[in-house]
Amino acid sequence: MAAPRGEFSSRFGFLMAASGSAVGLGNIWGFPTNTASNGGAAFLIVYLVLTFALAYPALMAELIIGRHARSNAVTALKTIATSNGSKLLAVTVGVVGIITVSFILSFYAIVSGWMIAFFFDPLARLVGMDGLSQWLTTDTAVRNSIFVVVFMVMTVVIISAGVKDGIEKWATRLMPSLILILILLTLYVFTLPGAMDGLRAYLIPDFSRITDPQLLIDAMGQAFFSLSLGVGTMLVYGSYISKDENLPVVGSLVALLDVGIAVLAGLLIVPAMYVALANGVEIFDESGALIAGPGLIVSVLPALFNNMGSIGILVASAFFILMTIASLTSSISMLEVPVAYSVENHGVRRPVAALLIGGTITIISLIIVFNFDPLFDLVVNFTTERSQPLLSLFICIFAAWIWKRNDILQEIKSGCPEAENGIFWKIWPFYIKFICPVAILVVYFQ
Ligand code: PHE
Repeated sequence: MAAPRGEFSSRFGFLMAASGSAVGLGNIWGFPTNTASNGGAAFLIVYLVLTFALAYPALMAELIIGRHARSNAVTALKTIATSNGSKLLAVTVGVVGIITVSFILSFYAIVSGWMIAFFFDPLARLVGMDGLSQWLTTDTAVRNSIFVVVFMVMTVVIISAGVKDGIEKWATRLMPSLILILILLTLYVFTLPGAMDGLRAYLIPDFSRITDPQLLIDAMGQAFFSLSLGVGTMLVYGSYISKDENLPVVGSLVALLDVGIAVLAGLLIVPAMYVALANGVEIFDESGALIAGPGLIVSVLPALFNNMGSIGILVASAFFILMTIASLTSSISMLEVPVAYSVENHGVRRPVAALLIGGTITIISLIIVFNFDPLFDLVVNFTTERSQPLLSLFICIFAAWIWKRNDILQEIKSGCPEAENGIFWKIWPFYIKFICPVAILVVYFQ
């Protein structure tokens, strides 16, 4: 029935793909401003602790289950289920994950489309097409629809090509470029007046903020979204890892890359905002916090780039290329979840599945574009605040309470024969059984 499964050809390939999934819009427009507004380096420390204490164990649950079952999320959870009841739960969690990730992609594609439009804007100005530039930067349903389609076509083309020739090939090209652009832009921004104030706001710790429970909850939500947890993405990527690979090590490398790139993005974004401030651009919202989210990306930073003169054109293009890359390496991981399921469980050919599912998600995106106010926030909140944490909770329950402990150990030992005596095996089972579910529930009910 199913075509032979894909596999990442190297550790580097997997790391680029998985960190590509993790590093996305959230890292660049959420993390830096959150940090600067919430106690600087103090928030960073809390975030690091939460990532490694809570999100990393949940990430490991997905990677281990995925590699053990060597299949998509639905089948993988069913494989480890032991009773009829848990098999039903497995199918439910897997299918709800597929639906959730498809809706996440539907709003992600809209925002990613903005990034592409803003990438073309400086080029239009360069050749003197001011009308086009105006059109590209004005929020209209027509512009948004066109760029949603452009972005989804790129996503579908990459996923059609498969794990090695699509996901891995593009992630290994795009992620190093992303890191390089990020470093170059950061170095350039450091030379501008105002940057050092930004650096201070970003890094000087204010420990009085970190006891705020709301802050802990936000940081945890951010950590789970950022590591792409709950919706089967990491589980599916885990299913393409070689049996010789040391899972605890590659998992921690993915978490480190995700946090590392978020921290690096902060070194660019927060100083850039203070440079904008020095240029007379408003960077704080009514509550006094730094402007975050779309407002940061489509108004604060473009205002700064416009003030920079001709070099601003280059800086703006580089920045929006960076954003597009970050989005694309995440969107392909999202589309892979339903595509892997259709290919493996329904015998659909990969390019057909990618086209049909990608097409359906594009239609959902277009419906949101034309009904933006009622739908956009609803879809974002429902998927990321309601569905994603609950799904993560169930995956932890599968790994800790349903799956046989010895089978987990055997899976980890493949590629890490000494696992039984290592620190990971001493701590992780306890975390995944008690700490992670409780922490997720606490966040959920907030
Ligand atoms: N981790 C991605 C980001 O930070 C978003 C994402 C969520 C990707 C769920 C895949 C699955 O933007």
